[in-house]
Amino acid sequence: MANIDRAFIDQVLASTDIVELIKEKVALSKNGTNYKGLCPFHNEKTPSFNVSSNKQFYHCFGCGASGDAIKFLTEHDHLTFIEALSKLAQAANIEMPDSTKKNDTTYNLFISNKKAADFYNRTLKSNNNANAYLTKRDINQTMIETFQIGLANDSWDDLTKIFTKDKIIENALEAGLLIKSNNKIYDRFRNRIMFPIRNSTGNIIGFGGRIFNQQDGAKYLNSPETKLFHKSYELYGLYESKKSISQEDKVLIVEGYTDVIGLHNSGIKNCVATLGTAFTKFHFKKILRYTNNITFCFDGDVAGKSAAWKAINNCLPELKDGVQLSLIFLPEGSDPDTFVKEEKDEFLNLINNAMPLSQFIIQSLKSNLDINSVEGRTAFLINAKKIIDEMPDITYTTILKKEFENIGGNTIRKDIAPKVEAVNKESSTQKDHFDIKELTLINILLEYPSLLEDSTYAKYITNSVLIDIYESALKEKKMNKNFSAAHIINRYTDDHIIHKIMTMQSNEKSEDSARLTINEIASQLEKNSNEDIYFDLLNRYSNGDKLSDDERQFIKNFKK
Ligand code: UTP
Ligand code: MN
Repeated sequence: MANIDRAFIDQVLASTDIVELIKEKVALSKNGTNYKGLCPFHNEKTPSFNVSSNKQFYHCFGCGASGDAIKFLTEHDHLTFIEALSKLAQAANIEMPDSTKKNDTTYNLFISNKKAADFYNRTLKSNNNANAYLTKRDINQTMIETFQIGLANDSWDDLTKIFTKDKIIENALEAGLLIKSNNKIYDRFRNRIMFPIRNSTGNIIGFGGRIFNQQDGAKYLNSPETKLFHKSYELYGLYESKKSISQEDKVLIVEGYTDVIGLHNSGIKNCVATLGTAFTKFHFKKILRYTNNITFCFDGDVAGKSAAWKAINNCLPELKDGVQLSLIFLPEGSDPDTFVKEEKDEFLNLINNAMPLSQFIIQSLKSNLDINSVEGRTAFLINAKKIIDEMPDITYTTILKKEFENIGGNTIRKDIAPKVEAVNKESSTQKDHFDIKELTLINILLEYPSLLEDSTYAKYITNSVLIDIYESALKEKKMNKNFSAAHIINRYTDDHIIHKIMTMQSNEKSEDSARLTINEIASQLEKNSNEDIYFDLLNRYSNGDKLSDDERQFIKNFKK
């Protein structure tokens, strides 16, 4: 998060009502003490988006989106953290401190990138060669605007000069727009068509630059990894395509910037591209927030097949029932950009008849094997087992395994899970087991945080997850008198915990009644724990242990 005075953020959040804020953008209906509506972050027909008035945060049980009022604005309105904060501050009539903007590095990098993109965009307007190149490639004015395409001139210091003038050169260096070497600073991108790369909220995080009138140098030069730009996480075109991806509830994954642009130009707007890397599990998780139906588009050559195999292998461990993966392979020599231009109907036909994941896996496993021979079937089953071992325990895996077994003519045994995993499983079931009394206790404390001041409740909480929530809440409450549950929600990435906190509702009408309930629970938990001690002592006694005077006294008192 930005380097901003925490007290200020808290003041703004305390002056904001998240229900009112979200109600302006999402139709919400009351559901107990929570509010419910259709999630604005993914496509759904039954509402799983919840907003808690008591806890001042939102959570979607469908896609896992969650956060406080600021997070909502950054995700929903595509604002930066600072923009969201200042919007809320303004609505609450609170003045933003001057230091706030200067301190936020993320914001500064966004601003540098935006400044560069605007400059590149202006430069493009006055360069005939570059425009002729784009026209030749059918990249028209609408596409230039949609994708904010620009041009870096054949110059070492066009951009450097601009950033020097504004004395924000450090930001531009950190954003990877300029390079410093031997104490000299120069432009990273020269003589290239510039494709800004935006994150899902629309802020520019990096650039891809393509040569257009020279033969030497790499075809594309991309921004380096920066605080904002991580190639294995980001997808080109997501911002421009996400609406269409959600509406059509499917996405096409391609390989190149110009493929995304060409497809958009042909009216196929639900597509994204990786940034010159393989499709990673991070890409997979990211795109699943928009749709469960993913079609990969690869070249039909050996390189394409191997890229497909790699992408699929990265997805398999993260697969969920209900997710549909499929693949299409284009004829050698064409990419989506060229193919769709020449044969759009054929392209759509290919997508509609894409090869399902299972078929691709089976075909790949079978290739170069004689499945009619014992040797071939053995090799098939050995490799098939590797695939199954990579996959989660879902229905799809079970069915695929059966399919493999039919082909291989023998059963595939799943490995006996190594010990470490068994232990992890156990602790996670323990983690998932919540005592209803403890859960209620925590919930009341979150809804009536002033009760946190009575620290005697700590000793009744034994579940590790709940202890963690309790301690976070206590710590926050000490620092911040305006504490609400929203203050701790951002720190949990584990859906399970967020689900739990969101679904807990106490229905206490006032702090006094909450206090009565919580004391009643505490005394019951106390009784339980005394009972445990009592039986433990009796046990020790009957085993011949010598008990201390205090322990004997405890047994006596307990019986009374
Ligand atoms: P392609 O070579 O298929 O290029 O690379 P393209 O996107 O179709 O571009 P055009 O049509 O030739 O203009 C696919 C992607 O791989 C990355 C880029 O992200 C590119 O869009 N790449 C490629 C690089 O990062 N560097 C390169 O030198 C080449
Ligand atoms: Mn191409």
